Amino acid sequence: MHKFFPFLILFSLIVSITHGCFLTVPWSVYVLSNIPDDIVAHIKSGDDDLGNHTIPFKGNYNWSFCSRGDNRTLFYGYFWWGSKFQSLDLFNKELEKFCSLNKAGRQDCYWWVRPDGFYVFPFNNTFSEFYWKFIKPWG
Ligand SMILES: *[C@@H]1O[C@H](CO)[C@@H](O)[C@H](O)[C@H]1NC(C)=O
Ligand SMILES: *[C@@H]1O[C@H](CO)[C@@H](O)[C@H](O)[C@H]1NC(C)=O
Ligand SMILES: *[C@@H]1O[C@H](CO)[C@@H](O)[C@H](O)[C@H]1NC(C)=O
Ligand SMILES: *[C@@H]1O[C@H](CO)[C@@H](O)[C@H](O)[C@H]1NC(C)=O
Repeated sequence: MHKFFPFLILFSLIVSITHGCFLTVPWSVYVLSNIPDDIVAHIKSGDDDLGNHTIPFKGNYNWSFCSRGDNRTLFYGYFWWGSKFQSLDLFNKELEKFCSLNKAGRQDCYWWVRPDGFYVFPFNNTFSEFYWKFIKPWG
């Protein structure tokens, strides 16, 4: 067995204890809105229904969970903005890969909901269409 293995276990235990995720990775996802109206987001996974949430202009809705890192953790959302609607995955294996940073502890994924569509980025940085990843327009 690799001699660093016990340290990895210890490290995972410390992360587990501080973030409530046992041998899994703690994640937080933030949905920020830049829509100059209230929008409604309904976020679900196979196990959880986070319900309908109204997100005001410049507001955010966020939630946390543990990912087993086995590509099976999935959250998706339904979004309403007046008569516009869209549905999309907010966390899946590609997004987990895109948002994962080589750091200890909690990982984050940020969504910007904008009039032209939905963008994602691993950091809460100022929006720029050059580095935020465009995922989908409104339907
Ligand atoms: C969530 O909000 C949408 C849009 O306002 C509405 O159509 C839907 O019925 C709501 N769902 C629930 C469970 O309240
Ligand atoms: C995350 O959402 C909670 C309410 O659910 C809010 O109190 C908190 O400020 C939000 N976090 C951030 C960083 O905006
Ligand atoms: C997750 O998916 C990626 C590519 O889609 C694959 O390379 C990787 O081995 C998968 N990991 C697990 C634990 O299944
Ligand atoms: C994003 O960063 C801004 C500026 O630092 C801060 O005001 C805001 O609370 C942050 N939002 C989230 C969801 O982390």
